[in-house]
Amino acid sequence: MQLIRVWDLPVRLFHALLAVSILGLFITANLGGNWMEWHKKIGFLVMGLIVFRVVWGFIGSYHARFINFVRAPSAVFVYAKGLLKPNGKHFLGHNPMGALSVLALLGTLAFQAITGLFSNDDIMLEGPYANTVSKALSDQMTHLHKLNSELILILIGLHLAAIIFYSFYKKERLVKAMLTGYKIQNSSIDSHLKAKMPETPRPYWLSWLTIMIIGALVYALAMRALG
Ligand code: HEM
Ligand code: HEM
Repeated sequence: MQLIRVWDLPVRLFHALLAVSILGLFITANLGGNWMEWHKKIGFLVMGLIVFRVVWGFIGSYHARFINFVRAPSAVFVYAKGLLKPNGKHFLGHNPMGALSVLALLGTLAFQAITGLFSNDDIMLEGPYANTVSKALSDQMTHLHKLNSELILILIGLHLAAIIFYSFYKKERLVKAMLTGYKIQNSSIDSHLKAKMPETPRPYWLSWLTIMIIGALVYALAMRALG
């Protein structure tokens, strides 16, 4: 048994900021009125977070990279079949089903941010690019923005249910790992990972450079759009 670093600081910061921002987006959407200005600002923040996570999925540390956790549908199926077995396969990073939920969350959130740019509420509220398309298209985007927000709520519900299942049924401390970055590696089960996995995290300058470039681009876009 050995403590091993699984989630790097950028992934953990991304996750914490994302969860708080999504909460803020649903609260501001429900409060309406002037709060919608904050809704748009936080929406841009989420856009930046998603772009960052996609880039980090290619250049980040081992468990952050898509290639090390996204699996073919057949692997997801095999994993799902063994889910309730006490000695089912164990993964240090995202398991194949978790990977699917990561992709679903990232995809629906990206779609939500894009449709938000073109939404309107028929009274005074408008996404920053609603004027650049026809009213009919903007109405369609608004409809999709509302519909997709329900899908996001369902996915978040499943995400939290999965985490409760893993904590209590599988006795895996996933939440602690997402907070501290570390998991306990059981070498008898995970020995196949050892040879492949470089344990050194990505250098800090790479994460800060990536964050600064994406942050500056999204900030410039938000400033132009929101004025
Ligand atoms: C609005 C709410 C949330 C959203 C949108 C969200 C989204 C995500 C995403 C996208 C990931 C993948 C992380 C990555 O690889 O970059 C993730 C992982 C994770 N999230 Fe959340 N999350 C939310 C709330 C929470 C909460 C409240 C908790 C804890 C109670 C939590 C616990 C975790 C854990 C433990 C993982 C790692 C799962 C694993 O080990 O495979 N999340 N979440
Ligand atoms: C990315 C995460 C986002 C989430 C989770 C989200 C969620 C929501 C929700 C729940 C509503 C209320 C829908 C209803 O009335 O039933 C809403 C409305 C709205 N959102 Fe977003 N939103 C996001 C991003 C954005 C962005 C980036 C913008 C624009 C910059 C935006 C602009 C709007 C506008 C203009 C409305 C009002 C439309 C209406 O009243 O129906 N949203 N959003």
